[in-house]
Order: sequence, then C-alpha cells, then structure tokens
Amino acid sequence: MADDLWTRVDDYTVAALHDSDPVLEAALAAAKEANLPPIQVSAAQGKFLGLLTQVIGARRVLELGTLGGYSTIWIARALPETGRLVTLEISAEHAAVARTNIERAGLSGRVEIRLGPALDSMAALAEEGIDPFDLVFVDADKPLVADYFEACLPLVRTGSVILVDNVVRQGQVADASSEDANVIGVRRLFEKLKGDKRVEATALQTVGQKGHDGFLMAVVA
Ligand code: SAH
Ligand code: DHB
Ligand code: MG
Repeated sequence: MADDLWTRVDDYTVAALHDSDPVLEAALAAAKEANLPPIQVSAAQGKFLGLLTQVIGARRVLELGTLGGYSTIWIARALPETGRLVTLEISAEHAAVARTNIERAGLSGRVEIRLGPALDSMAALAEEGIDPFDLVFVDADKPLVADYFEACLPLVRTGSVILVDNVVRQGQVADASSEDANVIGVRRLFEKLKGDKRVEATALQTVGQKGHDGFLMAVVA
C-alpha cells in the first residue's frame, strides 16, 4: 500500500529533522485520552505551518478549527513574543482539551480560543474592526470552506496568506460527480477561485501518514 510507504517516509522525516517534543506528544496524548478524532495535521505538516509562519514574518494568525490545539501550538510557537493567534472552534469539548494543551505549551498569552461557529466568530471579528491577520489557516468543517474563504477576505490585507487544509481528499477533488459533502464543499472553493482576481492561488498535493490530501495556498492581491 502506498499509504504504508508514505507513513514510513513521514516517520523517517520526523526522526531525521524534528527534535523530540514532549509538549506536542502530551498534546496528542491528551487529545487521544479525550477521544478527539485523530485528524490533526501530521508532525511534518505542523512543522511546515510553523516554518511558513516564520518565513511570512506573521505576527497575527487566524485559525479555523482548533481541535486539541496541535496545529495551534506549532503555529503559535513560531510567532514572536508579542504575536497573537485567534483560533475558532465550535466544540466546547475540543476547546477545553486545546486550552489545557496550549497552557502546557506556555502559549496562553498568545492564543485566544473563540468558541462558536466559525462564520459567527469571523463576523464578530470583522465587526470589532480587529487588525488584519497575516496568515489564516482554514481547517474547520469542509462543506463550508468556500464561505470561510469569503469570510476571511475582510480580515486580511494585501500580501496575507490563506492556507486551506484537506483540499485533495484522496484525489476526490478531481471527481465532478462526487456526492461527498466535503468534496462538494472543496470543489465550490476551487470554482469560486476560478478567475478570482482578489487572490493568487494554487493547490499542492501532499502524501504522508494522513494519506493523499493537499493544501491550497492563496496570497491576497
Ligand atoms: N487544526 C486542527 C484540526 C482541526 S479538525 C489541527 O490540525 O490540529 C476540525 C475542527 O473544526 C474540529 O475540532 C471541529 O470541531 C471544528 N469545527 C467543525 N465545524 C466547525 C464550525 N462550524 N466552526 C468552528 N469549528 C468547527
Ligand atoms: C478531517 C478533517 C481534517 O481537518 C483533516 O485534516 C482530516 C480529516 C475530517 O473531517 O474527516
Ligand atoms: Mg485538516
């Protein structure tokens, strides 16, 4: 199975290139203990998100979909001391696990978890006139991903990066006849971006321990 090979390569990558990380290990263990679905980004993807945060020089990050705070920790760590990450989560149970994990990581001062449907929280952020975010990581429910993208735009500036997870879905994104609500949602995003001059975007396929998926990256014009 290709997936076994991809997992072996992920294991090799992490063993070679990542330091051992008790805080992230504890975050994963706490998420498992609380029976959260094991759908967080892989370690390699998490480190990639942190490195992306660093190369952008991001100071303000918005995340949609906190789960147990695993991606949150990777990103928040890459922020400067005075940086800020707002992460949106609909599940109080997930947010509680994330809060403990973020505290253990010593990142509570930089991270704000907002509980509720992401679209409502984003409308509230816009209403508050919050300073624009430099990076948005879109990783909540997939059927609404095109709406999330639209709701991001008032919260960013020219040059901001919007990174969307899970846009390939084992290749199903290329299947116009798919009846999977997640695939239909992701395809709506691609259709929306066709000829859309507000951003410059591409999608990059990924393989690894999470199978065949991908990130869509958009830079705001
Ligand atoms: N970013 C996390 C994984 C997120 S999984 C990581 O990589 O570590 C997706 C999360 O989105 C789940 O916790 C789920 O509860 C949350 N979610 C689902 N629908 C949502 C909505 N409408 N608004 C906000 N969060 C939502
Ligand atoms: C699912 C969600 C994710 O964010 C992910 O990375 C993988 C799977 C899901 O809802 O199945
Ligand atoms: Mg995801």
